Amino acid sequence: MTVIRSVLRGCGSYLPKRIMSNEDMTEIVDTSDDWIVERTGIRQRHVAHADEKTSDLAINAAKRALEMAGIDGDELDLIVVATATPDETFPATATTVQAALGMTKGFAFDLQAVCSGFVYALATADNFIKAGQVKRALVIGAETFTRILDYEDRTTCVLFGDGAGAVVLEAAEGAGEASDQGILSSHLHSDGRFHDMLYVDGGPSSTGTSGHVRMKGREVFRHAVVNLAAVVEEVLQAVGLESSAIDWLVPHQANRRILDGTAKKLNLSAEKVIVTVDRHANTSAASIPLALDEAVRDGRVKRGDLLLLEAMGGGFTWGACLLRW
Ligand code: ACO
Repeated sequence: MTVIRSVLRGCGSYLPKRIMSNEDMTEIVDTSDDWIVERTGIRQRHVAHADEKTSDLAINAAKRALEMAGIDGDELDLIVVATATPDETFPATATTVQAALGMTKGFAFDLQAVCSGFVYALATADNFIKAGQVKRALVIGAETFTRILDYEDRTTCVLFGDGAGAVVLEAAEGAGEASDQGILSSHLHSDGRFHDMLYVDGGPSSTGTSGHVRMKGREVFRHAVVNLAAVVEEVLQAVGLESSAIDWLVPHQANRRILDGTAKKLNLSAEKVIVTVDRHANTSAASIPLALDEAVRDGRVKRGDLLLLEAMGGGFTWGACLLRW
């Protein structure tokens, strides 16, 4: 049986130049390098320049992904930008990216699932491809998350950073087997009852402002461990593979302890987990493609490797995707 698969032709990422260390954070809030490293594994984060918007980060990452894929912007049929920090309330940041890449056909839209945004966007683009409506798609996770932080709240402002990552998907024929190249299965979930655990206290129709991140960290942590373990099990079962088949875990980078917990549940050694949280902090929708791009470019991830992507974020939203690079 032949099926349509979304094959990943290339990836790219971009980090703003300015780096803020934990030491820099101690000048803003009552915190310490020791506390941040011990509780989260974060040592530093990148912060966008005042002139840099989410679209600028996204465009830089997109150009690198297109270059690796050997595809021009005008050959794309679809752009999905996962972001919780769009340039403007409307139009979609994706349309700004579309114009910058010289893509005049097809369509572009933003998708909002906070930290799970990239997995949601990947699954969405994959479904357009599998339905035969789209041949080539650019999926981006891009955030200027530091713009919605309350720098008087030490429980949240030390956790996040800015950045962008992108992948190019292309329709290809597969055999319908787990050995196929491309996206094998994606599983998405949300449960809106948990709104108050992690949200932004503003928006166009509530306060008329962008608002700031509010989080009950301990509860989010507890749910993250449970939900991620369940969705990872679900995606492996759907494809009919054991966790031992995974070459690389490319998780959303929220907290080192969550990464270690998920790897342990999967019986994966630490060497098989791509970790960037120490240098990038939590870049929300951008964290998975940033980690993926790093591991592809430094040669760890090779063609044919089986990758497990997973994320959890505000909503709650969560999801996982199994793919062969
Ligand atoms: N510096 C120093 N002390 C701090 C800081 C800080 N930056 N922040 C909080 N504290 C203090 C608290 O005030 C508290 O003090 P108290 O005991 O005197 O009241 C103490 O440290 C412990 O606070 P907890 O919130 O219980 O600390 P915890 O061990 O749970 O760690 C953390 C907090 C890091 C936020 C953790 O709960 C976490 O990572 N949760 C997951 C949240 C997350 O990653 N969210 C991102 C988005 S969702 C996602 O991506 C999964």
